[in-house]
Amino acid sequence: MTRRLELPDTPGTAALGAARMSAPSALRNRDLIAAELRRVAPAWGRALEIASGTGEHVIRFAEVMPGLTWQPTDPDPLRRASIAAWTMQSGLDNIRPPLDLDAARVGWAEEEPLTADLVVVVNLLHLISGAEAETALTETAAVLSPGGVVALYGPFLRDGEATSEGDAVFHASLRAQDPAIGYKDVIDTCACLVEAGLAHVETVAMPANNLLLVFERSDVA
Ligand SMILES: C[S@@+](CC[C@H](N)C(=O)[O-])C[C@H]1O[C@@H](n2cnc3c(N)ncnc32)[C@H](O)[C@@H]1O
Repeated sequence: MTRRLELPDTPGTAALGAARMSAPSALRNRDLIAAELRRVAPAWGRALEIASGTGEHVIRFAEVMPGLTWQPTDPDPLRRASIAAWTMQSGLDNIRPPLDLDAARVGWAEEEPLTADLVVVVNLLHLISGAEAETALTETAAVLSPGGVVALYGPFLRDGEATSEGDAVFHASLRAQDPAIGYKDVIDTCACLVEAGLAHVETVAMPANNLLLVFERSDVA
């Protein structure tokens, strides 16, 4: 299920070519996220990005991790058009055409040919319900190859609490739009992926109180 939400950083197309959208937050954080991903990602293989948004992230990730073939996805057709347009403009040949993927749909890991050595999820979990997040994480774990890495970036609650006034306000604004959504707790998020067979290997503090949570499937064949 996807929702129409009022977010502080809704992407726009002003001054860009047709289809290409731009989100200020994606431009602000993409180099920092890319640097951390490059540190933890496998050098080679298939990378799946869930909820790719405008596509401004995947073009940077593909540029700095050229040994990975990137599969962007998003359920929104306008964002998929934007991803395709940014990809074409980038000239990079390690980005596949975007797929229509609702990560909260039960069973997608079995239905889609999406086995991945790296799965990246940026700024999605707070926009979906707890049950949807659990599905998205369980399905994500199911597509991960042995030795593969999952990286989750975004805002989280710590012990049930927001870590700043701004986070508390944003969390409350999400809850006001839909009581089922809002920030997820780090502990619940980690527990869900550990339950799905992954090991939590790292928590990286990122700017604006965001976290990058890193997991591995350690059952190397
Ligand atoms: C805040 S944007 C983040 C986009 C990008 N990852 C970034 O950080 O710039 C949230 C994205 O999640 C996508 N989305 C919403 N619900 C989703 C779902 N159930 N499964 C996958 N993507 C979803 C939206 O279409 C949107 O592109």
